[in-house]
Amino acid sequence: MSGGLDLSAVYHTNHQIIEAAYEALPQDVWDYICGGAETETTLARNRQALDCLALRPRVLVDVGEVDTSTTFLGTRLRIPVMLAPMGNLTRITPSGALAADDAAARFGTINFVSTTTPPDLEVTGANSPHHKCFQIYMRGDTVWLKDLLKRVKAAGYQSVALTVDSAYYGNRERLNAYQIRHRDVAERYWQARVTWDHVKLIQDELAGIPFMLKGIQTAEDAALAVEHKVDVVYISNHGGRQIDHGLGAIETLPEIVAAVGGKARVVVDGGITRGTDVVKAMALGADAVAIGRLQAWGMAAHGADGIVRVLELLEREIVIAMGLLGVTKLDQLDASYIAKTIPVMPAHEMSAFPHVRNGRLK
Ligand SMILES: Cc1cc2nc3c(=O)[nH]c(=O)nc-3n(C[C@H](O)[C@H](O)[C@H](O)COP(=O)(O)O)c2cc1C
Repeated sequence: MSGGLDLSAVYHTNHQIIEAAYEALPQDVWDYICGGAETETTLARNRQALDCLALRPRVLVDVGEVDTSTTFLGTRLRIPVMLAPMGNLTRITPSGALAADDAAARFGTINFVSTTTPPDLEVTGANSPHHKCFQIYMRGDTVWLKDLLKRVKAAGYQSVALTVDSAYYGNRERLNAYQIRHRDVAERYWQARVTWDHVKLIQDELAGIPFMLKGIQTAEDAALAVEHKVDVVYISNHGGRQIDHGLGAIETLPEIVAAVGGKARVVVDGGITRGTDVVKAMALGADAVAIGRLQAWGMAAHGADGIVRVLELLEREIVIAMGLLGVTKLDQLDASYIAKTIPVMPAHEMSAFPHVRNGRLK
């Protein structure tokens, strides 16, 4: 229920949630959520790369019961879909990070909490006992970093991620004052100076708390992450918001899974908006995926309840995709369920929702 509204009776597809999000948001915040860097080629490729993968269904398997759950860093996930870190969430809903945290706790998944989203990390940390991962952007020197990690540990976060794809802010050109204000040079000073030395320092400070590198995009860096004994290699191009003309995130998954060789867990995000996307990632070796924009659309539509509804609809799609592929558990999926193909429609951030009114709601 959301404000007396039973969302399961109102929203039967995520198309409808996206339309409600568009109605709820001012244009500048909508652009902040949806936009990517420069030509938005990386953004479009995230979807295109998923569209280049076809599914190979097997039949005559008893799929009467389908289990979509998995365990990630000791936490049971109802579906292998986590809530990616997003900054400035109070622009989308007044409770900001608390809405995402409530949704993750209620639905049963992990919530990533961005350095740059209100309220303070201690307030979000105390919001629920559910597994939260704190996502670090570097905003100071090593003294600042050590102090931040002390606060993160004291606030009870169960894991930590360092975002490594943001040495410079991608030039996001969907015009509005908000994005321009957000490109703050002082913040970039520290981000641009993050190296593998910081990885070592963070791991020493964390002393065993699971640690992820978010924004790995090549087998070479994945191999270095494994050398540094990172627990999770999180493949991401920031939803196409950082380097333009990168590969689609899922295109890099097979080479990174091979480079990791089972020595770390692998997460991927970028363009994941459908149950079939989740199934494709799992078949190619991901341990879990994460959603950014889809989470934001749910939040814009109905706060925590909207995110829960988005996840419920994704869950239904995953059940259908698994059942129609002839698998009952996620670990039965492998590359034999995937074939390369040619996409049938032009890709963009909403192209998985062809029935959204006005196409892209620009
Ligand atoms: C509005 C918005 C804000 C974001 N803020 C952050 C952030 O603070 N930290 C971070 O590591 N990634 C951030 N990201 C990137 C997401 O964590 C994630 O990598 C990306 O959204 C995945 O692509 P998708 O939106 O296509 O699902 C943000 C993405 C969006 C759309």
